[in-house]
Amino acid sequence: MEFINKLKAKAKENKKRIVLPEGLEERTLQAADVILSEDFADVILIGNPGKIEEEAKRLGLTNLNKATVVDPENHEKKEAYTDLLVELRKSKGLTREQAEKFVVNPLYLATLMIKSGDADGEVAGAENATGDVLRPAFQVVKTLPGISVVSGAFIMILPNDEYGEEGMLVFADCAVHPNPTASELAEIAVTTGKTTKSIAGIEPRVAMLSFSTKGSAKHEMVDKVVEATRLAKEMDPELKIDGELQADAAIVEAIGSKKAPGSEIAGKANVLVFPTLEVGNIAYKLVQRMAHAEAIGPVLQGMAAPINDLSRGCSVSDIVNLVAITANQAAGNV
Ligand code: ACO
Repeated sequence: MEFINKLKAKAKENKKRIVLPEGLEERTLQAADVILSEDFADVILIGNPGKIEEEAKRLGLTNLNKATVVDPENHEKKEAYTDLLVELRKSKGLTREQAEKFVVNPLYLATLMIKSGDADGEVAGAENATGDVLRPAFQVVKTLPGISVVSGAFIMILPNDEYGEEGMLVFADCAVHPNPTASELAEIAVTTGKTTKSIAGIEPRVAMLSFSTKGSAKHEMVDKVVEATRLAKEMDPELKIDGELQADAAIVEAIGSKKAPGSEIAGKANVLVFPTLEVGNIAYKLVQRMAHAEAIGPVLQGMAAPINDLSRGCSVSDIVNLVAITANQAAGNV
């Protein structure tokens, strides 16, 4: 896929260290092998070195000897990472004893490596639920200055060019924040606009989705989307955004011009912002399966360092693709 090949080539120019905390998971090891053979990122695997070697042999992977392996139970920075975690979480009452337990958890260890400058980015989630990947990231790496809410965007690549930007659309939030307030939803729209420009490489035209178009239905859920649209325009006056729009009015020209005449977004949207996580997560999975779209992500937006989470149903190439995105985020290319 051209989009991903370009990202890999860019990542290769300034290679970054990406930590994969699920170092014994089969698809993760296969993905690490591909990344190391294509040589677009340095890979750090967390896991018992003997077991990783055994798995590499069993799977016939020949490039894993180029990975750095960190044993969570036994490595030289264990004390230093424990000190750091205690310091970061002391206002929350974390004791040293508790911190010692967290530090051997690969998902915490990965975030502590990033916070200490020992890794540049992380990809996880092939075998852990999203919440378990995100919690350490929120607690240790935290959000970018000025950002209150992390969210997850998917770059959806459809098999034909009928909708969006010649078949490419960005969906958010599909991964993180269950029930955003109007101002959080506005923030999600603005950060998704930025992701669309930087990672998908297209000029965002954002539709704030609802079950109503321009007042066709009255409900407090519709009011939230209307308010979020107003706030997003205030936060980023340059952003091309409109709402509230139904999904058909957002992406189908003939319906957009009928239901929302005069809108510069209706019928032409290439970014779909969903009112809740429930809608976003269900929608991306249905489009991925039923329309045979490629779903790249979720790309986490608003985190202070690039940490990206996989779906547990991910394939080897999903992991490779997300590492390519993460490496580019770490290099500041996107
Ligand atoms: N952005 C930034 N920080 C956040 C966010 C957010 N969206 N959500 C929680 N936090 C922070 C909190 O401020 C808190 O920080 P603190 O401890 O320093 O005060 C910390 O994270 C923990 O907050 P809690 O509210 O205790 O978080 P909790 O662990 O209950 O929930 C979580 C956070 C895990 C992200 C939760 O919202 C969740 O489970 N979301 C759904 C994830 C999911 O299952 N997605 C669907 C699958 S993904 C897929 O299919 C690809």
